[in-house]
Amino acid sequence: MTKSSSAGKPTLSGGQKPLRKGLLSAVDLTEAEIRFLLGTAKAFSPAVNRGDSIPLLQGQTVVNLFFENSTRTRTSFELATRKLGGGVLNFAASTSSVVKGETLIDTAKNLEAMRPSCLVVRHASAGSPMTLAAQVDIPVVNAGDGFHEHPTQALLDVYTMEEKLGNVRGKRVVILGDIAHSRVARSNIYVLRKLGASVAVCAPPTLLPPHPETLGVDYAYRPESLLPDADIVMALRIQLERQNRMQMPSLAEYSKFWGLDNERAKMLKPGAIILHPGPVNRGVELDTEVADGPRSVILDQVYNGVLVRMAILASICNPDGLKNWLLKEGKNV
Ligand code: CP
Repeated sequence: MTKSSSAGKPTLSGGQKPLRKGLLSAVDLTEAEIRFLLGTAKAFSPAVNRGDSIPLLQGQTVVNLFFENSTRTRTSFELATRKLGGGVLNFAASTSSVVKGETLIDTAKNLEAMRPSCLVVRHASAGSPMTLAAQVDIPVVNAGDGFHEHPTQALLDVYTMEEKLGNVRGKRVVILGDIAHSRVARSNIYVLRKLGASVAVCAPPTLLPPHPETLGVDYAYRPESLLPDADIVMALRIQLERQNRMQMPSLAEYSKFWGLDNERAKMLKPGAIILHPGPVNRGVELDTEVADGPRSVILDQVYNGVLVRMAILASICNPDGLKNWLLKEGKNV
């Protein structure tokens, strides 16, 4: 079984094979599984920094099945697969037979027939990776489904928080932005609560869920009450593509009252860090001086996304090989 480790070291023991069936949601992950993935990503870091490949996916193919646009997630899954020695098949809905009317499930089943090891799925409909996982026999990884979940993003976010500030237990994390439509917020809340962080969300009332108390975290309508106590602030994009109509008078008003500009960033205590999952709308949720300033760890998040996705893919596609690699490298297995 897996054991939790606050030091972020992998502690797999007893032959458990985590994530054999894929990774569909952060809410399904145990604290031990989260710790194992974070620890494995950390164990990969020196080899990746040296430019060494870690050949745990040799002879395997990962399919990136993206029905929504992506810069970071798709490319980092591709890089992660390549750094593990695997092959990548990138599927783009816009140039596929989806435009001729082929369904999501038929598309996935046809790709599965080519015998890949794993499907990495992004789709605008909440729950579609779960629907697919019930229809195919290979593991499925959720790379973002509507406003539901983005579990691999939450894992790379927490990895980055701990890389900069140590264990998140007891740390105050403020998530600021369009909470109602954010899969990133939802998955982060699940992971951070499991690891013992203190989480608060902040948004205009129209951009919080109808019953914000059901999130199980603190909430406020204005950032000024939360920023002075924050160790970590995560700013989120306004998800206009998921809103039936704009749920605020204007982006300018959002920026004025909720945007993280220099004045609001000055309220943070020394050492507090700022994250954003990207893409950033500069001048709306984050001013350029803040996005590019000394507290920003946004590009570290992007780099760490490769390490964390390597850990996820190795855990899913070659758990025994991963266990042997960790043992060989003396990584506290
Ligand atoms: N954070 C994130 O999901 O970015 P992309 O949409 O570019 O993948």
